[in-house]
Amino acid sequence: MPYDNPVRGPGKEKKMSITIKGTGSALPEKTVTNEELSKIVDTGDEWIRERTGIGERRIATGQTVAMLASDAAQKALADAGVDPEKVDLILVATCSGEQALPCVACQVQGLIGAENAVAFDINAACSGFLFALSTAEIYLAQGIYNNALIIGAEVLSNIIDWSDRSTCVLFGDGAGAAYVEKDTRKKALFQFVQGSNGAKGEVLSCGQRDSANCFYRGEEISKYVVMDGREVFRFATRQVPDTIARLLEKAALTCEDVDLFLLHQANLRIIEGIARRLKADIQKFPVNIRHVGNTSSASVPLLLDEVRAAGKLKEGMKVVLAGFGAGLTYSAILLEI
Ligand code: UT7
Repeated sequence: MPYDNPVRGPGKEKKMSITIKGTGSALPEKTVTNEELSKIVDTGDEWIRERTGIGERRIATGQTVAMLASDAAQKALADAGVDPEKVDLILVATCSGEQALPCVACQVQGLIGAENAVAFDINAACSGFLFALSTAEIYLAQGIYNNALIIGAEVLSNIIDWSDRSTCVLFGDGAGAAYVEKDTRKKALFQFVQGSNGAKGEVLSCGQRDSANCFYRGEEISKYVVMDGREVFRFATRQVPDTIARLLEKAALTCEDVDLFLLHQANLRIIEGIARRLKADIQKFPVNIRHVGNTSSASVPLLLDEVRAAGKLKEGMKVVLAGFGAGLTYSAILLEI
């Protein structure tokens, strides 16, 4: 099994430590359709829809990662009815922050006035929101913090080569956030399985700055996303169902017991392939890729917010969140609403 890492996560006896109290999202106003892209690169609506399921995406025209993240965060706090100064922990999952320093989470802290929080970023690419959620859960379970604001935010349009048709049609910009608190119920579930395969990192990469100082100058690197799409496709359609299967096994559940699967929105064919491999009902896999494209770290929280806003999340429901991305990283989380 080429991608079979040791996977870690709590054991069967683990009870839930978090409950989602509020969600929010932020999308740039500008919509870019497939037709518009066909004027920039050699592509077409038919190819993009058939191969990916994407119809359009939002592209930032001035908004930074921190601005989108703050907007989504404020909506999540408003949804929960919580003041920013009550937030203990802010985690931002991102791989496209415009500034190396300060991190996006600290920028968000300043922008929303969460003066009492501890804030830092997590970069696990498209799995980032899930890694951030499991990290927050551990802090809350340990009693270190009582609540957390978890945000996935990206302006991928800044790191895309707009002359590369194999990548530029896939991605979009946006942010999603969830405000979570320590759960007082004792019986609800929280389980996760996650892993990384750094040896396969070259299949999806993006350089940031050249290796250069006043004593040394290395080779110039690409500042844009470079991807072996087929390899990532293969990885996702094998690794994600295997990871979900392990997660359910640990929780002594089957796909039948799960009410919703909220998957990273990278490609409709990947989502359908995962559902097929799991022999799970495709109706349980809501999608928003048609109108937002692949928003990396933002994709799962954007979908979570859409599903919650539509009233589809009911107390007691069992939900699986799952994703994969550059690293290569992968993660699946089971939680009870
Ligand atoms: O969040 C994780 C990030 N990435 C992913 O999840 C990506 C996973 N991979 C994929 O979703 C798919 O592999 C892609 C959508 C990227 C590509 O779809 P594919 O069915 O694997 O296409 P392909 O790479 O095998 O290319 C088939 C053809 C090629 O032409 P030839 O060599 O057959 O003549 C490509 O040059 O499609 C061509 N092609 C395009 N044609 C029109 C590639 N991109 C485009 C395009 N428009 N945008």
